[in-house]
Amino acid sequence: MADNIKFIKGEGIRLYTPENEEYIDAVSGTFNISLGYSHPELVEALKKQVEDLIHVSSSFTGELAQEVLDSILDEAPEHITDGWMRDIIGSTANEGAVKIANKFNGKSEVLSVSLSHHGQTLFTTNISGNAFRRKSFSNTISTNNAVIPAPYCYRCPFSAKGPDCGYLCAEAIHDYAQYGSSGGVSCMIIEPILGNGGNIIPPDGYFKKVREICDELDITLIADEVQTGIGRTGHMFASEYYDIKPDIITLAKGLGGIGIPAAAILYKKEYAVLEKFEHSYTSGGNLLSLTASQKTMEVVSRAGFLENVRASGKILGDFLNKLKEDYGHVIGDVRGIGYMWGLEIVDKDGAPDVDLANRIIDVALSDHKMILRGSRYGFGNVVKVRPALTATQDDIEEIYFRLNKIFSQL
Ligand SMILES: Cc1ncc(COP(=O)(O)O)c(C=O)c1O
Repeated sequence: MADNIKFIKGEGIRLYTPENEEYIDAVSGTFNISLGYSHPELVEALKKQVEDLIHVSSSFTGELAQEVLDSILDEAPEHITDGWMRDIIGSTANEGAVKIANKFNGKSEVLSVSLSHHGQTLFTTNISGNAFRRKSFSNTISTNNAVIPAPYCYRCPFSAKGPDCGYLCAEAIHDYAQYGSSGGVSCMIIEPILGNGGNIIPPDGYFKKVREICDELDITLIADEVQTGIGRTGHMFASEYYDIKPDIITLAKGLGGIGIPAAAILYKKEYAVLEKFEHSYTSGGNLLSLTASQKTMEVVSRAGFLENVRASGKILGDFLNKLKEDYGHVIGDVRGIGYMWGLEIVDKDGAPDVDLANRIIDVALSDHKMILRGSRYGFGNVVKVRPALTATQDDIEEIYFRLNKIFSQL
């Protein structure tokens, strides 16, 4: 159905068809339109860059790339002091992070968690925790990497109950390293909030445990902040907010502000091990990406910007919890922070209801002109609500108003 709709204009969280019909995008594209459609400051900076110079080989963009990197590092967790600006998308940034870990510690195996999504190249499909994306591609199945249980408390894979659950999902790292691996686990990659998997927020204490185990086993910890980074949670980095202390952080999506592809890998200084010839792409760190990233950092770092995401995000969370009170028979759980929320859709027995989640998304588009997205590319039962970080309180109210109508209709 979405394939029949064509948009020719956008502003803030709103999109317009050639007939000037207005839609609300409650998920900011695929969570990459962090500053809303056509943010005027980005458009202006990009227009100027297009007029001046669109592309020049990355051999000649080093100075600008370093400036942009510095502006990101200024906001990064304190121990993260260096980085790499030669990527263009999240998938390659994650591949770069794994290369860095492999080269740094001389080991090769990668650990990730079930329901994770780290990209769609052969390798990142391989290390993501979703079999449905691998089904047709035998090259994405490797015995060199492993998926361990996700920290998904609402449906705990061990049926344990917090807060004294013993973090069995984190302890699984020990099990795998000792019994499942070749003895050479190089790194663990994890999203601070499992975005595609269903807006899954690990419990308090989980990341502390993971960090301890990684230290004990000499495993590099990579935080995939492709979705959570650059303000999505109301904090510049989710790693900082959740005190994850990763060795490496990857960024993409929101870094480009208005949908311009941009990516970065950030790390502790001892992880600066890559040679340029080992990881760079023709369009990696191109002038338009760098311009968009620079302006995005300027806007998101401004006084009051993230405070507003936190305050309005709280209001959004309150609205979604109110929906759960009113429609608790189909909304099993509401999870989120900042402008990153998910509604877990359940059937009468509390089991995941994927069909209903997809119906909610379809009805939102067809009857209420609102774009929502589902978890696991339509194979999951979580409906995601993640407006642009520039969404106002009026926008949030409008999203709630339409959601309310959708649930009452269904
Ligand atoms: C957490 C996470 N990591 C990595 C990626 C891959 O990024 P890209 O699609 O830019 O390659 C995605 C994309 O959805 C993602 O959500």
